[in-house]
Amino acid sequence: MQHGKFITLEGGEGTGKTTQIQNLHSYLTRLGIDCIVTREPGGTAEAEKIRNLLVQRDGGDWDPLSEALLLFAARREHLVKKIWPAMQKGKWVISDRFVDSSRVYQGLAQGLGETVIEGLYYMIAGEFEPDLTFIMDINPEEGLRRSGKQNQMSLDLNESTEDRYERLGLGFHEKVRDGFLHIAKTHPKRCVIIDADQTPDAIFDQMSDVLQIKFGLKKAVKSGAV
Ligand code: TMP
Repeated sequence: MQHGKFITLEGGEGTGKTTQIQNLHSYLTRLGIDCIVTREPGGTAEAEKIRNLLVQRDGGDWDPLSEALLLFAARREHLVKKIWPAMQKGKWVISDRFVDSSRVYQGLAQGLGETVIEGLYYMIAGEFEPDLTFIMDINPEEGLRRSGKQNQMSLDLNESTEDRYERLGLGFHEKVRDGFLHIAKTHPKRCVIIDADQTPDAIFDQMSDVLQIKFGLKKAVKSGAV
């Protein structure tokens, strides 16, 4: 049996990754590809516990290196218990964020540097990398406006608000955007930049062009369709 593929979606806040992941999942499923959707931080019961410490508003005040160690512990759980076993069974795995988020948020914007992040990543994953990464790009002001709306809805419903990173300010999120664009430039075979300031249909159309070229898949006729 062939190994499944690993596709990641990355980008700053409010880029609409969730909608596009749903589109991608239904598109691949309609093509007869067995695929699962997952996310980081999280994806397994243990990693979701770590997620709550880091993304919720009242998650905690972590030293940046401690924060990175928690993220990489969650990622190791995710790889060993979910991503690798699924791929070995031939499933495709679509993940909402992966190590590029650590490269950008912790390595660049929080200032830990490349050596620390690459060292931690090599320790938990070796040479493993996604087969394809969509970098969803949007002006951070617009992205924060969109994610702020969603967070307000959670607050209104008395749900926990996952906005610990959103609250780090526009300067932080401008660094995040630049960081993702830099990753796309330095990993051109793996990464494709998608302009996230378009309609969801136009965004998915662009993504399905990429899937067609990269994996020889049939083009979607319209959003999510085959
Ligand atoms: P999201 O699921 O809404 O994208 O939120 C996850 C948050 O966690 C987002 O603000 C980015 C942050 N994050 C990191 O800082 N480092 C990481 O390695 C990952 C996976 C996420």
